[in-house]
Amino acid sequence: MSFYITTPIFYVNAQPHLGHAYSTIIADTVSRFQKIAGNEVRFQTGTDEHGDKIAEAAARANETPKEYVDRISLMFREAWPPLHIEPDNFIRTTDPNHIKTVQDILRQVHDRGDIYFSEYSGLYCKGCDRFLTEKELVDGNCPDHLTPPESISEQNYFFRMSKYQEWLIGHIEQNPDFIQPERYRNEVLSFLKEPLEDLCISRPTSRLTWGIPLPFDDKFVTYVWFDALINYLTGIDYPDGPDFARYWQGAEHLIAKDILKPHAIYWPTMLKSLGLEPYRKLHVHGYWNVNETKMSKSIGNVIRPADLINECGADSVRYFLLREMSFGLDSSFSYDALINRHNADLANDLGNLVSRSLTMVKNFCAGKVPDQGTMQDSDRELAEAAITMVAEYREQMEAFAFNRALREIWKVIGMANRYIVTNAPWELAKDPANRERLDTVLYTLLETLRLITLTLHPVMPATAIRMGAALGAVSPPNLDSQGRWGLLVPASSITPGETLFPRLKKKTPTPAPAGNPATDSPKKGAKAGRLEAEMPEGLIGFERFKEIDLRVGEITRAEAIKKSDRLLKLTVNAPEERTIVAGIAEFYQPEELVGKKVIIVANLKPTKLMGVTSQGMVLAARDGDNLVLTTVTGAAAAGSKVA
Ligand code: ME8
Ligand code: MG
Repeated sequence: MSFYITTPIFYVNAQPHLGHAYSTIIADTVSRFQKIAGNEVRFQTGTDEHGDKIAEAAARANETPKEYVDRISLMFREAWPPLHIEPDNFIRTTDPNHIKTVQDILRQVHDRGDIYFSEYSGLYCKGCDRFLTEKELVDGNCPDHLTPPESISEQNYFFRMSKYQEWLIGHIEQNPDFIQPERYRNEVLSFLKEPLEDLCISRPTSRLTWGIPLPFDDKFVTYVWFDALINYLTGIDYPDGPDFARYWQGAEHLIAKDILKPHAIYWPTMLKSLGLEPYRKLHVHGYWNVNETKMSKSIGNVIRPADLINECGADSVRYFLLREMSFGLDSSFSYDALINRHNADLANDLGNLVSRSLTMVKNFCAGKVPDQGTMQDSDRELAEAAITMVAEYREQMEAFAFNRALREIWKVIGMANRYIVTNAPWELAKDPANRERLDTVLYTLLETLRLITLTLHPVMPATAIRMGAALGAVSPPNLDSQGRWGLLVPASSITPGETLFPRLKKKTPTPAPAGNPATDSPKKGAKAGRLEAEMPEGLIGFERFKEIDLRVGEITRAEAIKKSDRLLKLTVNAPEERTIVAGIAEFYQPEELVGKKVIIVANLKPTKLMGVTSQGMVLAARDGDNLVLTTVTGAAAAGSKVA
């Protein structure tokens, strides 16, 4: 099957922001997904460079329109590779072949009698670049731009859109998937209940010169939407290029709801007039908001893709945007949410699973894939979950339900982390009699990781490549041939790499631990002392106890300290990250500690042990010669106070 995914071509009247990045990341993810699903894919994005708004922006920048559009278009083109976005084509509406095709199409539609000349007066919104109907206004303003439209009266050319209204209603009704999600299909059908007006498709050159001249009247240029929508055809060399023959039948457009009407109404009727089949599907997503307001260049509350990449890396940004938003609905952006997901889902859940599993294979199997051996129930359970995940993931990805697809993967990541704890490979490793069992557990883990890696390629391409390389997985990825159990070859090499996702600090600092005796006011201390004096011997007062800041800490990393048999260096999340050196190396293997929730003393003065600064202490019970960490059972978030 062929698959042609497009983003809107973005206006070059401002620089790329998170909203543009979101659409383009989705399109890239879809493109990569369709490729690993075995389809022939083309992915196109680009820039929309004609019209009033662009001419005005150029004037403001003191540049000619051409200089200006060249400069800003390049910014869009260069914004995508750092986000691991790889379009097959980047189209500009100022490309000569686009201009020629637009003129050819205008001529055809004109020859067919679907373009006529007439007088028109109406309410024009510059922000939308179209005439609005009275009904669309809210308190006399454009509902999107919150500005009053201009009343314009002039002679212009019109496209007979009304002629195709009945056909369009029929097409949408007979093809339930044509516009999705369904809420937008319903919105379009309800709009089509009213008679459609014909579409004004020209501007007199007396008013605007930065546009494509009409081939049949050079006193007019074409209206931006007629120019812009045609990019989807020129990008695949309509009418006679091989890509047009291959890809038009698989065309799926991706947009946000702001440009639903041009895509759901103007565009299919234009195609119908040209005698072409309409595109296959239109996918409509919601807005990224900041503090309840749409992120937009006109409002000025924009987040730049480069800032996000600096914050946490491109794959993490991609993961966040796709995981956080339900396709079709609006979502709010915040740096806190971005960092939370990075730390919880990527650094903790995925990152730990990968590093623990690979480290154990390195330590217990000399870095080679072990034999699968005989599977037990718990192994089969994980294997079946991983296989089911591939199927469910595929279904959700096909439906553009990216957040659900990711949830399926993370369900299995969670299971695999629990599987490690239940099967405790480090315990098995202590007794050679358990060799076969240990091999089966580690093989099961590696295969699960391989399938997780396969499904991660579209959303986190760089991460998946690193994971695949560590596992020695076959490339290029393919869901059909590699989405099965048992493909890792025993005795092949496993090479653990660097940490996938270093933990990040929150932007808004979490409050410092309370009750630090070093900084508390002397008055409070004096009071505590006085109370103490009245205590029976051997007891302390509550005030004194309160000085000790006990917290739940989650161990996120554990490693041996060189030249010490006794000490382990722990990275503990409580909830801010800290390093604690603990004398527990004789009792615990580093890899079994990761994920454990322990009790820490959070307000001890830092001390240096074997060159490592320890910021606190982990509590443990001494039982004869043995040492047992105090852990919490049940769900207590890292950082919870222990009282
Ligand atoms: O409309 N949230 O270009 P444009 C999510 N040139 N997506 C957002 C967004 C937000 N806050 N802000 C922008 C045009 N977008 C025309 C299109 S197509 C033939 C011509 C994304 O620069 C989203 O994809 O105003 C939206 O549809 C698009 O940018 C609008 O980009
Ligand atoms: Mg816009």
